[in-house]
Amino acid sequence: MIRKLDIEGYRSIRDLTLQLTPVNVLTGPNGCGKSNLYNSLVLLARATEGRLARAIAEEGGTPSVFWAGGERIRLQRKRPPRRVIIGYEDEDYGYELQIGLPSKNEYALGSEPGKPTMFTLDPRVKEEYIWPAGTNKRVLMLKRDEPSAWLRNNEGAMVAHPFGVSKFDSVLAQIIDPHLYPEISSIRNNILNWRFYHHFRTDAASPLRHPQIGVQTPVLSADASDLAAALQTILEIGDKQALEETIRLALGNAILLIEADGTRFRLSLEVPGLLRPLDARELSDGQLRFLCLCAALLSPRPPSLLGLNEPESSLHPDLIDPLARLIGIASKTTQLWITTHSQALAERIEVYSGIPRIQLQMRNGETVIAAAAN
Ligand SMILES: Nc1ncnc2c1ncn2[C@@H]1O[C@H](COP(=O)(O)OP(=O)(O)O)[C@@H](O)[C@H]1O
Ligand SMILES: [Mg+2]
Repeated sequence: MIRKLDIEGYRSIRDLTLQLTPVNVLTGPNGCGKSNLYNSLVLLARATEGRLARAIAEEGGTPSVFWAGGERIRLQRKRPPRRVIIGYEDEDYGYELQIGLPSKNEYALGSEPGKPTMFTLDPRVKEEYIWPAGTNKRVLMLKRDEPSAWLRNNEGAMVAHPFGVSKFDSVLAQIIDPHLYPEISSIRNNILNWRFYHHFRTDAASPLRHPQIGVQTPVLSADASDLAAALQTILEIGDKQALEETIRLALGNAILLIEADGTRFRLSLEVPGLLRPLDARELSDGQLRFLCLCAALLSPRPPSLLGLNEPESSLHPDLIDPLARLIGIASKTTQLWITTHSQALAERIEVYSGIPRIQLQMRNGETVIAAAAN
């Protein structure tokens, strides 16, 4: 479980430290930085997969992710920082990733000296650190400085990694021998296990509304295109009772039906009062999204961290309480990170989990934790 998260210089976050719990509900007004915080975790996951540059390019390139600086910078006439720092600590280790821009002399190198690189907006990994949890970075297990990395060996000495590492990627994606480097491997495996869901497409052409290949699916895909198979997998090897009960409570005593047509699975809902079951094409956006959330939260192979960005979007108000209840069930096996604009959802999750929400606000152009209301 992540206990502490430290973000600096990423979008609206100048410098923020959060103490995390099993259920983290981040709430606050529009534009206060909820999605930025969520995306900082997604960025760490992408960096670990070796997809850092692509993830940042999709956000508009490295300069656009740096904190643009608020009043504080204007008044002090300083230049805003040009580093993004994302770090966390769990029970075992601390890990920190620092991202910046290419240094000036990088342009002059290469096969055509004098010709500048076109990859100027790609991030460069400047520094990376791993330390045993609770030691406050004084006893490093790994220190990485652009292309060089030092690792602590069995005798306790810091030795240089024999090969240079690519500046474009995290060491977590590059130094992967689990026998030689068990702590790097443990952190990588943990981060690769994080799972994020931010939007489920439910328009008429969405794959959700049509029969899909049905193979055993313990992990719902990010776009939920394998929803019917994922739900059937829960019915067969997961918490069948919780799934059926949640659907019954949330969707007017409805019963979930999954049918196979050869290798394709289709889902429908048997709703009391209707003469025939409703096909996925006929369900409302909210009903379909709720089923996606059921499949994500009741996964028979729960992730170490599950992030949901605004899960309440397009849900009927009646579905808020069942969703909060489901989140309470999932929190027994997974650490949860939920950003929500809905005070009703935040309130209901507090009731089911007993853990208070984290209220964010924007102050002088930066995301901060709001003081407790009481
Ligand atoms: N590079 C940046 N520097 C400073 N602020 C930024 C940067 N990029 C986006 N923002 C600010 O972040 C806010 C949007 O945050 P977001 O996480 O999308 O909010 P929400 O809480 O609605 O999810 C906006 O106020 C925007 O001005
Ligand atoms: Mg948002």
